[in-house]
Amino acid sequence: MANNALTGVGSESKQLATWYFTFAAIIFGAQLVFGVVAAIQFVEPSFLYGVLDFSIARILHINALVVWMVFAMFGSVYWLLPDETGIETVGIKIGKLLFWIFAAAIVVVVLVYLFIQVGPADDTTIWFITEGREYIEAPRWADLGIVVVALGFVANLFFTGMKGNRSGIVTVLMADMIAFSGLYLCGMFFTDNISMDQYWWWWVIHLWVEATWEVFVGSLAAYALITIIGAHRKVVEMWLWIEVAMLFGSGILGLGHHYFWIGTPEYWWEIGALFSALEPLPLVAMFIHVLYDWGKTQGEQMGAEHTDEDHVKSVITNKPAFTWITLNAFGNFLGAGIWGFFHTLPQVNLYTHGTQFTAAHGHLAFFGAYATILIGMMYLAIQGTNGIKVMNHTKASIWGVSLITSGVVGMTVALTIAGYSQVLVARAQMGGTWQAYFDGQAGMWFQQAMDWRLVMGVVTLLGFVFLAKDLLTSGKSPVHER
Ligand code: HEM
Ligand code: HEM
Ligand SMILES: [Fe+2]
Repeated sequence: MANNALTGVGSESKQLATWYFTFAAIIFGAQLVFGVVAAIQFVEPSFLYGVLDFSIARILHINALVVWMVFAMFGSVYWLLPDETGIETVGIKIGKLLFWIFAAAIVVVVLVYLFIQVGPADDTTIWFITEGREYIEAPRWADLGIVVVALGFVANLFFTGMKGNRSGIVTVLMADMIAFSGLYLCGMFFTDNISMDQYWWWWVIHLWVEATWEVFVGSLAAYALITIIGAHRKVVEMWLWIEVAMLFGSGILGLGHHYFWIGTPEYWWEIGALFSALEPLPLVAMFIHVLYDWGKTQGEQMGAEHTDEDHVKSVITNKPAFTWITLNAFGNFLGAGIWGFFHTLPQVNLYTHGTQFTAAHGHLAFFGAYATILIGMMYLAIQGTNGIKVMNHTKASIWGVSLITSGVVGMTVALTIAGYSQVLVARAQMGGTWQAYFDGQAGMWFQQAMDWRLVMGVVTLLGFVFLAKDLLTSGKSPVHER
């Protein structure tokens, strides 16, 4: 990849991708800052009280999480589309215009969260301040804007796929992105029945992260393996189809693991238990797939050692991206597969539901399955934009990946301990009463775990500073081969 990607075929699409990635990285930073604010408030509840209450810091933290990931996902599609289809993205000018509309809408929503925060209990709040559905709290005007932007994005992808070379990766993405965008609609209408509201809200949250986003990650991993280590397309795409079938096969009805206690019929206990218990299987497959391809490609390259030395040197053409993508294989398996499986049976979930255990799983899963691979894609974009042939690690990239990963793993361990103490004290011992809820959080194990979560959160934020520095400067660093 010695040529500058911003000058060849698809250069406009790639440029738009870099805009999406840049905005995503900024929002990622904001997510971490608000996470640290919320973590301080757990330890010192009066911190910023009346200025930026916990409820608002939390809204900002988790909505920023979703927004930066969606931006980085759109960026990834605009980045890989010209490589896969061999043509410039169709309707790219409209795509660029929609980016600015999207970014401006997000900035306005954030400013409203920061400075207006709450409104009256009527339609004005739903339309102009917040819709109040965890993770997707944007007010309705922004919701409608997001729908328009998503339609434009899907159109870009679809028409480009129709016109250019439609690889397996592009075909999967086309189908997946229609489902991904369509599901957003399920979180947009209002009902005053809380069970019904939650029922549809989970269609967005669960069917996003455990079906459509996972399939998306499968496609990215396939693209990255072909690009970074030169894995064979035939093998990679065969795995991709198997993963897609398994992910949808278990993930769709796995939805039932959110319908145990919200007023939905009891048959969901069996459906949820069975299908969600199968969900780790595709994650194991994805894990094996990455390691298998790596081993296989390396083996082949070794065999060629004496005939083509240059080839061997460039087994991995982008080391930082490859590190993040390997972390994705482990993180997805651990955070979603293992930490998810822990609490997915109703017999267990009865005790763990809504404890810090859930937060432990939420952190490791979102980080392991999505943050990692999207950061990897950012590194691929930096390589392409700067015309780098082999991208090596810099000091900052190593510090970034090490601190962020140990920070998130540290937070996960702390939250798992906190959750375990809640399960024992608040649920098992005291029977889940209102009093038990508070007693469960007063114990030493819980309190110390909250201190450690804060410490590890600061480690994560520090790692982000290194990552940001690296993303901004490493394109010009002399450690790379050009
Ligand atoms: C990358 C994929 C995944 C992500 C990002 C993810 C993330 C999350 C998050 C953030 C929550 C908390 C939702 C809330 O605010 O109430 C949650 C809940 C849950 N997740 Fe996952 N998850 C993933 C995969 C899985 C898998 C594969 C399983 C099961 C094998 C699973 C099982 C559960 C269960 C049972 C709950 C409900 C916890 C409770 O009752 O409090 N998750 N997940
Ligand atoms: C600077 C590091 C971070 C800190 C200090 C932090 C802190 C927090 C805090 C205090 C909450 C509220 C928990 C509650 O309501 O009990 C939270 C929720 C959440 N955070 Fe973070 N966080 C950090 C990084 C991240 C990262 C990197 C991710 C994912 C990539 C993430 C994903 C989430 C999710 C999904 C939730 C909702 C969990 C749930 O309700 O179960 N956070 N975080
Ligand atoms: Fe789920």
